[in-house]
Amino acid sequence: MIRFLHQQREVALEDVSADTSILDYLREHRGLTGTKEGCASGDCGACTVVVAKADDAGLSYSPVNACIAPLGSLHGSQLISVEDLKDGETWHPVQRAMIECHASQCGFCTPGFVMSLFALYHSSNDCNREEILEALGGNLCRCTGYRPIITAAEQALSGSRHDQFSRSAQATLDQLRALLDIESESAALESRHSHYFRPRDAAQVASLLAEHPRARLVAGATDLFLESTQALTPLPVLIDLCSVTELAETNVDSEGMRFGAAVTHRAAQDIVLGDYPELAELIERFGSLQIRSQGTIAGNIANASPIGDWPPVFLALGGSLQLQSSARSRDLAIDEFFLDYRKTAQQPDEFIRAVMLPRRKDALFLRAYKISKRFEDDISSVCAVFALELDGDHVIAAKAAFGGMAAVPKRARAVEAALAGMNLRHDSINEAALSLQDDFQPIDDARASAAYRLTVSARLLQRLQEEFRGSTATRVHALSDAHVRATKHV
Ligand code: FES
Ligand code: FES
Repeated sequence: MIRFLHQQREVALEDVSADTSILDYLREHRGLTGTKEGCASGDCGACTVVVAKADDAGLSYSPVNACIAPLGSLHGSQLISVEDLKDGETWHPVQRAMIECHASQCGFCTPGFVMSLFALYHSSNDCNREEILEALGGNLCRCTGYRPIITAAEQALSGSRHDQFSRSAQATLDQLRALLDIESESAALESRHSHYFRPRDAAQVASLLAEHPRARLVAGATDLFLESTQALTPLPVLIDLCSVTELAETNVDSEGMRFGAAVTHRAAQDIVLGDYPELAELIERFGSLQIRSQGTIAGNIANASPIGDWPPVFLALGGSLQLQSSARSRDLAIDEFFLDYRKTAQQPDEFIRAVMLPRRKDALFLRAYKISKRFEDDISSVCAVFALELDGDHVIAAKAAFGGMAAVPKRARAVEAALAGMNLRHDSINEAALSLQDDFQPIDDARASAAYRLTVSARLLQRLQEEFRGSTATRVHALSDAHVRATKHV
């Protein structure tokens, strides 16, 4: 059984198919059609709902793409959809601002915009324009009507924050904590043809995997659920890692940072940026706030997609994984993880327990570049991460890792060899750029042609050198400064 709060009452469900999404639940099980389906792939934000969870600081509100979020992921949380915002006959401040600023333009996108702004209303007391744009980055409006929506956001977020949710926050917290305490056993959904397991510890994960060898592991499901919504492939057995306490932990010491398999991108990003602020733009452009609130770093690596953005970061920085089964636990360098297209060294009885990055070393020159058709909320055509160990202007050692250039995320060994030993200020980087052809024979696909991929990768190497020389300013991003400030404690 899974239990969550919705519309001031506890919902307990058991006989529901494992691959039911939150959107399916709202629209088909509850008849609540305010939340819309646009793309059904996490791209447009029309389906945005807000999920509130109890944490050490109180209640945290996250925007979530309901179309690709498993219903079971709501266990122990509060689900808030657009129908819930009005307080009796009184519009929520976000809704009122949308009306007054003429920002309610079409019925498909508006509920999603409202919910993204509602999440921001409850997450930040002092929003600037960058935060508003970041919050809206996962909501597409095809009629080009962003200006009134941004104006509405500024109006709604300029005053004090009091609504029926803040007034009942303590009662909600108490209810959520009680929900999580109800069962000592794992939560689950069981229907005639499917099983959704939500184990509470790593040992249970291992034994469920042994018992259900065809089960799919899931954390945020931001990629896996596309198999259901796009390919219409049933997902009959799911093991959700998000209730496993040890998989939700983050540890940082002098050696490295360790993120459990259930740690979301959003929860990890401040810590990563504390050591590597150069990744700010890549992390923000990884995906919308909805996706970063829901998906996990470990999931992005486990998928082994050739166009994932975390694998090049881990390859360039020398990251690693901890793999666990009922019989053993082993650490594996990320260099040994990706074997072939969507094939990894993870054995069928294993799951990723954690992913690790080393702490920053002195004299590191790091750059990460994402090339995609759209700046926000888009998949990379090419992702390149360069980590150079320097002695003055000389490259002592180089790691260059690419996504989108091969069947797997991959180090460019010939490029690395050409970079090693060069004087980055005075020598030409063209030899390294030419070496790309020894490393990669990329493919043509809908995102980019092979020729474009090779050309743009060569240009990224030139940009790397120009940025080192200081002749081209690195794009300064608001997220970077904010996160560096926020992570001084690390
Ligand atoms: Fe487009 Fe969910 S329907 S993101
Ligand atoms: Fe729907 Fe612009 S608000 S297309």
